[in-house]
Amino acid sequence: MILVTAVVEKNIKSVTEGTTDLKKINPGFSTRAIHVGQEPEELTGAVVPPIFQTSTYQQSGFAEYTFDYSRADNPTRKNLEHCIASLEEGTGAVAFGSGMAAESAIFSLLSAGDHIILSDNVYGGTYRVMDKIFSRFGLTASWVNTSSIDSIRSAITKQTRLIFIETPTNPMMQLTDIAQTAKLAKDSGVLLAVDNTFMSPYFQRPLSLDADLVVHSTTKYLNGHSDVVGGIVISKDESLLERLRFIQMSVGAIPGPFDCWLTLRSLKTLAVRMQAHHRNAMALAHELYDSSAFKQVFYPGLTSHPHHELAKKQQVDPSGNPGFGGMISVELKDIDTARRFVKYLHIFTLAESLGGVESLVCHPATMTHASVPAEKRLLLGLSDGLVRLSVGIEDTHDLLTDIRGALAAL
Ligand SMILES: Cc1ncc(COP(=O)(O)O)c(C=O)c1O
Repeated sequence: MILVTAVVEKNIKSVTEGTTDLKKINPGFSTRAIHVGQEPEELTGAVVPPIFQTSTYQQSGFAEYTFDYSRADNPTRKNLEHCIASLEEGTGAVAFGSGMAAESAIFSLLSAGDHIILSDNVYGGTYRVMDKIFSRFGLTASWVNTSSIDSIRSAITKQTRLIFIETPTNPMMQLTDIAQTAKLAKDSGVLLAVDNTFMSPYFQRPLSLDADLVVHSTTKYLNGHSDVVGGIVISKDESLLERLRFIQMSVGAIPGPFDCWLTLRSLKTLAVRMQAHHRNAMALAHELYDSSAFKQVFYPGLTSHPHHELAKKQQVDPSGNPGFGGMISVELKDIDTARRFVKYLHIFTLAESLGGVESLVCHPATMTHASVPAEKRLLLGLSDGLVRLSVGIEDTHDLLTDIRGALAAL
């Protein structure tokens, strides 16, 4: 019994303190994705750490415990937080039950009267939570084309506390220069948060470009198999992390242990999945660009994209090679043509979400961005003919055949 207790205590120690042995070899991205927070379990030797599917923990005496209650902390959730913090080059991470819960935790760092500058073309849910919920608690927002540093600069007021950018934006694929915005934020005493959902840490690491906070919908590339909804915030700033942990524990929008475990399992293949998404999307983007069926093709990997040069510099894999991810938006003549194009696709499934191994197609105006008013959508270029492709990792040839078939049927 004493031996078992000692082993359990050692296990808990490695869960709470993270991997120490790995630090000695300065491991690369995939090694960290596979090993950080995922050491073999010492009691049984299980190579895959168990799921701590528990709500509560035995305490050895009054207030004597390592874990007390799973809203406050859970070993499987902690493992996930360690792993993603390492991939994003942060010192800590705080996991939530969805990307929106993670974003809401960031907004909850602020107080009534504070002002936020946001990219004008963010995910529809980000617009909705700010417009319909946080505005009622006294936060004010300016929606700005953050691709222009001058537009951000002129939106800063004495009340501004946070700049929140999405790059590339969903679904218009516009980029914001993270390093330049981080410098402006620092000079102005304002925090910078980056929604890195579209790129994942494999192709973009905002903390290394001096952002203060990174947020993910882990539902997308990080989990990558369309079977979990989750979110996470990562930082290098211990006082911000402490405040986020307090919000996580107090508000309680936490992910369950099984979802954390599934996401951890998925992270092991993040690098190879992202390379495959990128390869397929590059092939498709060229095919789409060469077709006369589309008014516009939005993909930062195309030299015709207005932010291609920035994409080459900012969106790089851990070895420094540019990578543009798996998201492409295309504009067809009108909603009827878009509807027919989607109907003729067989491999691409019409569905919300993105970043899974299977290819998905979505109509932002009626789906992900339906909560953005129509006139605002049009100002952003998000027309009713716009279709968003989440290019999966199926065989390139099959995806090309699917697109060609739909174009021929149009
Ligand atoms: C870029 C981006 N950020 C945040 C979210 C919200 O994430 P979740 O759906 O996990 O709440 C989404 C969802 O589509 C998204 O695309």
